[in-house]
Amino acid sequence: MAFVLIGFMGAGKSTVAARLAEQRGASPLDSDALLAERFGHSVAREFELHGEESFRADEEKLVCELLDDASTRDVLALGGGSVLSGRVREALAGHLTVLLDSDPVLAWERIHTSQDGAERPLARDREAFLALHSERSALYEELADAVLVWASSASGEYPVLVGRGLLTTGQLEQVWPLDRSSSRPFCVTDETVAALYAERLGDMRALVSIPPGERHKTLASAERVWHELVAAGMTRADHVVALGGGVVGDLAGFCAATYQRGVPVVHLPTTLVAQVDSAYGGKTGVDLPEAKNYVGAYHQPAGVIVDPATLETLPAQELAAGWVEVLKTALIAGGELWEIVARGDEVDERTILACVRTKLAVVAADERDGGRRQVLNLGHTVGHAIETVTGYSRYRHGEAVGLGLLTALRLSGTEPLREQVRELLLARDLPVTLDAGANADAIVDATARDKKRLGAGGVPFVLVKAPGEVNHGCEVAAEDVRAAVEELVG
Ligand code: NAD
Ligand code: GLY
Repeated sequence: MAFVLIGFMGAGKSTVAARLAEQRGASPLDSDALLAERFGHSVAREFELHGEESFRADEEKLVCELLDDASTRDVLALGGGSVLSGRVREALAGHLTVLLDSDPVLAWERIHTSQDGAERPLARDREAFLALHSERSALYEELADAVLVWASSASGEYPVLVGRGLLTTGQLEQVWPLDRSSSRPFCVTDETVAALYAERLGDMRALVSIPPGERHKTLASAERVWHELVAAGMTRADHVVALGGGVVGDLAGFCAATYQRGVPVVHLPTTLVAQVDSAYGGKTGVDLPEAKNYVGAYHQPAGVIVDPATLETLPAQELAAGWVEVLKTALIAGGELWEIVARGDEVDERTILACVRTKLAVVAADERDGGRRQVLNLGHTVGHAIETVTGYSRYRHGEAVGLGLLTALRLSGTEPLREQVRELLLARDLPVTLDAGANADAIVDATARDKKRLGAGGVPFVLVKAPGEVNHGCEVAAEDVRAAVEELVG
């Protein structure tokens, strides 16, 4: 069973296949390049000489040969139109078919800025190109076992794979982003997730399980993980596997960032928070009693493997709390994602992918939180303060962020939107007020310790004009913050 990349022209299949093959210690096989070799000239020239029909027949023959001979380690990139052939579609059945995610407008620009346009007979007219993309999308999606989003930011690139069953039905070997014969995997997880999924991982050199919950995202847990990795013989050539929710991801990522000054980490997120948000972007760390996420490091993953089927075992309250990160992402993205969320639709793979694209686009523009990335903290300034003053045990992260969103929307002065968000939270049984007697003063004080504060200045807030129009670095008067928090206490 090989890893077979399909998708539209200009998505970057050849480049991605080459990088994946290198990571896995294999050689890529690219059907267009192999055809050009057979023809003795380019695909565009072949179209001119013998037409598309003749090209498709040769393509079908070569791709079927490749698929028949392919083995588990192989990474194949197929020409965008090859899957129009019924024979090719049948031959794909025994392999893991992965759709490389692409935005057609960006694909068009990439083709034409790289002066690759002349080499692509079906990319000569922009409108026809975009129409062909929408015509083929449904077929690609139907064939795909997983979707691959290629993440890139200042410090590197990595694959994100989203596919139902990747973990639960044992397809990890095909999608693992590192060569496990030269880099051994050491898993960090929590006890709940270990009981549910650890045996699906295959051979791990160690399984370090911490007790579940935010209260364990601590330096003490990090120290325990470091010691267990040493005891299990982990070296710099090996890698950490973070199997679990955001707590495990942040903790294991931090341990990977610091163990022997840094080893790779592969994330296998199993909660909604982790699948739509925390597994991407490289923020890792632990909480201090004084403030949340106060100790940490940026450490981008070597890869992220998302199996939405793991959400089926997630308790309903965890799913609801995780949905708040979807809501936050939709407020940032606006557009179609906001429409889905505003309708109250259940989260499916499309929604997960939309959140992944939104987060990765923000991180690509500003990996180190110097500017635009701060929008991802919408609702988190007060949310984190609530978690800290309640000892990381009263509210789930998402629940606290939901309350934080209500304060951010109050401070934004967007009352109808605040009311809409409040209704959406209520519809999922999420808290919209703090417990009676909650200490508003302590929350306001903790807000002032937020990591986003620079020097002696105030804490900058993320405010919302409308879905899709979100600004970071907004100054807010201290008495307004106090009033917005007091309003939550009622
Ligand atoms: P979590 O990791 O504590 O998981 C919630 C609970 O679900 C735990 O009890 C866990 O054992 C259980 N669980 C996990 N997967 C399960 C499954 N498939 N089936 C059954 N139970 C399962 O919490 P979370 O909500 O995933 O993450 C919250 C954390 O994420 C916070 O610490 C927050 O700061 C962090 N976070 C980080 C980033 C980032 O960019 N690094 C972004 C958002 C949130
Ligand atoms: N969760 C905030 C960020 O990733 O920047």
